Amino acid sequence: MRIINTHSHVNMLKERSIGEALQNCTDENVTVIVPSYDDKSIFEVDALVKKYPQIYGYVGVFPEEVKCFGDKTLSDMERIIKNNDRIIGIGEIGLDYYWDKSFIDLQKEVFIKQIDFANQMNLPINVHCREAYFDTLNILKEHNKNSKVIMHCYSGSLEFAKECIKEGFFISLGGVVTFKNAVKVKEVAQNIPLETLLLETDDPYLTPVPFRGKENQPSYVKYVAQEIASLRGISVEEVADVTTKNAKLIFPRII
Ligand code: NI
Repeated sequence: MRIINTHSHVNMLKERSIGEALQNCTDENVTVIVPSYDDKSIFEVDALVKKYPQIYGYVGVFPEEVKCFGDKTLSDMERIIKNNDRIIGIGEIGLDYYWDKSFIDLQKEVFIKQIDFANQMNLPINVHCREAYFDTLNILKEHNKNSKVIMHCYSGSLEFAKECIKEGFFISLGGVVTFKNAVKVKEVAQNIPLETLLLETDDPYLTPVPFRGKENQPSYVKYVAQEIASLRGISVEEVADVTTKNAKLIFPRII
């Protein structure tokens, strides 16, 4: 059984080293894709990916960090992509109206620039969307031409997930699906077509049951797979196989 974890900040763990967390991934046959979040972490992710063979990376600027974004960021990202074939997507990018609504216009502008860039590079997009569902969907509908889209750590309604699926987007679920009170996310996990599903952890945040309250790590993605399997009444191997196939379709460079 192999799992591809499409979103892990393994470089942000505090309670265990990257080496230990990645050894756990090797032991559990988990492959990890690590997002960037600002104009400096793109270099950090590039270096990390070069150091550890079981990691792939995204370059991109997170919605709350868009004030650091400039033309140089795009040229840096382009150089990194051209020199490292295990940088396989743009992320995490998107809109977040939860933390700070004071620069929504700038968030939108930078999101659109990074979508255009992903299209030019012909790379998939890993989308962060918090309390900004319709703006995110509308911008993607209007601006995205050829990039595959992953809605990372999806926590919206089933109805909205269906809207995204209609556009050809993938729905990535994390540890929230294991929370007892996460009724909406469980409903999404049960009902979306398996061909649109991906797995992730978004560690160090959102630790799945049975480790809720402790620091998350990328190998815990198996608990996400197990919960989805039990919600759908299928085997965990099937969830792992289908989601790995989906991820390989999006990221053909993953070995
Ligand atoms: Ni994240």
